[in-house]
Amino acid sequence: MIPVTQQHTIISPGPIRNWEVTPYGITGHTEDAIFAIQVYADHTIRVQVSRHEAFSPNPYAVIAKPVSGLFEFRSSPDILWLSTKKMTVTISRECFSLSFATPQGKVLCEDDPAIGINWLGTEVSCYKKLQPWEKFIGLGEKTGGLNRWGKAYTNWNTDSFGYGIDADPLYLSVPFYIGLNGGKAYGIFFDNPHKSVFNFGASNNRFSYFSAEDGDLDYYFFHEDSVASIIQAYTQLTGRMEMPPLWSLGYQQCRYSYYPDREVLRLAETFREKEIPADVIYLDIHHMEKYKVFTFDGKTFPDPAAMIKSLKERGFKVVVILDPGIKNDPNYAPYLEGIEQGLFIRYPDQVPYEGHVWPGWCAFPDFTNPAARAWWANKLSFYSSLGVDGFWTDMNEPATWGQHMPNIIEFHFEGEQCSHRKARNIYGMQMARSTREGSLQHADNKRPFVLSRSGYAGIQRDAAVWTGDNVASDEHMLAGIRLVNSLGLSGVSFSGFDVGGFAGNTNPKLFARWISLGAFSPLFRAHSMINSNDSEPWSFGEEVEEIAKNYIRLRYKLLPTIYAAFYKSCSSGLPVAKSLAIDYAFDDRVFQGPFDNQYLFCDKFLVVPVESFRPVTKVFLPEGKWYYLFNSQPVDGNQVCYWECPLSYLPVFVKAGSIVALQEPVNHTGEAHDGILHLHVYHGSGTSNHLHYEDDGSTLDYRNNAYFKRNLLFDHSHKVLIFEESRGNYKSKFHTVKIYFHGFGENQASVGEVMKKLEKEDVSFLDRISDFDPFPDNRHPYHQCEDTRTLTIPHPPAKLTITLH
Ligand code: GLC
Repeated sequence: MIPVTQQHTIISPGPIRNWEVTPYGITGHTEDAIFAIQVYADHTIRVQVSRHEAFSPNPYAVIAKPVSGLFEFRSSPDILWLSTKKMTVTISRECFSLSFATPQGKVLCEDDPAIGINWLGTEVSCYKKLQPWEKFIGLGEKTGGLNRWGKAYTNWNTDSFGYGIDADPLYLSVPFYIGLNGGKAYGIFFDNPHKSVFNFGASNNRFSYFSAEDGDLDYYFFHEDSVASIIQAYTQLTGRMEMPPLWSLGYQQCRYSYYPDREVLRLAETFREKEIPADVIYLDIHHMEKYKVFTFDGKTFPDPAAMIKSLKERGFKVVVILDPGIKNDPNYAPYLEGIEQGLFIRYPDQVPYEGHVWPGWCAFPDFTNPAARAWWANKLSFYSSLGVDGFWTDMNEPATWGQHMPNIIEFHFEGEQCSHRKARNIYGMQMARSTREGSLQHADNKRPFVLSRSGYAGIQRDAAVWTGDNVASDEHMLAGIRLVNSLGLSGVSFSGFDVGGFAGNTNPKLFARWISLGAFSPLFRAHSMINSNDSEPWSFGEEVEEIAKNYIRLRYKLLPTIYAAFYKSCSSGLPVAKSLAIDYAFDDRVFQGPFDNQYLFCDKFLVVPVESFRPVTKVFLPEGKWYYLFNSQPVDGNQVCYWECPLSYLPVFVKAGSIVALQEPVNHTGEAHDGILHLHVYHGSGTSNHLHYEDDGSTLDYRNNAYFKRNLLFDHSHKVLIFEESRGNYKSKFHTVKIYFHGFGENQASVGEVMKKLEKEDVSFLDRISDFDPFPDNRHPYHQCEDTRTLTIPHPPAKLTITLH
């Protein structure tokens, strides 16, 4: 217990009294604390300091374990050193202040020597010296610019309806950021789920700091050579997503709410009549009886199984909303079960807590209790048996009207028993976890899809996320892009925003621009609020409908590229929508507004988000060379220029050297494509590499080699295209490949004329782009590629090398 006299005094750990070297690092005592410094990998070191007798467990975010034998240790009368291949941490024995440096001795980040680590009452903080020109990026779902310097943020999951573009906190907390300092990058993940504050030099010029209102100082320090490798290190620690079902990468239509059932069926019908591709329809809260989870309203949805069946016949998957609040109703089985089995969160006197949400007064399952998770997971069979394919875990901050859950409420926390102060930020991710587990349990080898509003570090393992109740405005559209980019810097790759804006009414232009951007977002979902105007792709007149249709079709054409990008993201932890701070971290222009909205999609497309009212925009093209997507016009990189952006043309540039894989669009991902893989090779230098990845798109069989994957390489100097040996035992659905060359210039006309040295297959030539199905009004990218030549080959099953002359 902290003596009363100390409650308003700053306490620091004091000098080191003793230490012990363990296989993983060192542990010991300072005058006022215990500490442990453990190595999880060459690039990851954990620091724990506590004023208690033992460290308090944080069992949710981290899935890795410390690794033995990865460090060297030295000591002197003043200092302890612990070094791995990637970094050295120096600990002053006198004041227990830490400094992290590269193996060459360049300081990456160091504690303020006077007040590095300290406690103020139960609040624990770590103050880091602010380095000149230091930048800070990441921290998950946080508003503001890409560089967080000069700002402070709070992590406390909050229901933030219609939030302002600078509002903080929002729904989800990832206490992980990356610092950029003098050409070097490092990362810090503060694994303390209590309400925490990250200050990046706000209101002071001395330090950045992170602090939590209780719990231990428990953080992981990462150092690698690049921002990308730091994100990989962080996701090695906290996990990565698993392959989502292919249908979840298609277009998703949501509304608060589509009901009754005939309205839902009419919606599906309209998509098909208009030949606008779409894969998913969401059922928001009006599908339930009195908003009670695990029910369907008998009047408006008398036969949900039949409705879902007919949606499936039209190629639609159904995702239902799940809110955690269980209505207090003596005739409602889930409520009675929860009470009987003690599964709800409670006050210290064991009375279940009740909060007011959509159904009225509700109890809340304690998702930090394995028994409650198992119960909830089990209950999902209600939906699976009706044919529901995906789940949308909403209101899981958890939200209650009034927005002030009392802190004394108790949570199981895997047996630790803790208060709302420690559990709140964890609650949403555990609801998502249990929902995913339920899906796996009932879905007969099918991949789960869970979309969550709330979460904590590691949420990427269990769910995709969306940025909650945004507002129909241009500035919100851009803010949503930055949120998604920031989530991507923080390990959450599969995320998106409500296309069109949730609150308020979207205007036609805004909807057109937003849906164009959505086509280049990892999660592509339109959603809008009750009592707002209709917001379907056809709700804004012919022109907007055509733009929406073009971009949705483009999304479906791009699926081979997007799917492969998801596969790569699953194995690397790097995002599908990459802030430019990942690949161009040390170019200052990346951090200037509005360039800090720009990102790379699937590593190949530079997307320039721009407001709907702007006919021209400023574009920052990073180093290298780029091609304008719509006509393959080459543009030099390393410059800022003005670019026209009429409503139908979202500025998108293809990175030189990219190989982009396309298919003909389908009405939904369950429909067979025509078997032709279109590969677009953009002239560049060195060797281009494209991973071609396919599997059945829906089951878990890919875990057991049921995939078809191969590298495609293009050597630009020698003009050699190599299809490497394929791996896996899935049969590719593509029987033919058409290859298109962009930017190879006048004297490269022969590129399409001859190709030699086929090892096995015969080839035939196709002429020009005319073969490539154009969009009405020439609005489709690739339509005007004058210098494009194509060649067609059967999809080669084995290794194939093609030399172009
Ligand atoms: C919340 C969600 C929103 C949903 C609404 C009704 O506001 O964020 O997406 O439509 O609740 O369920």
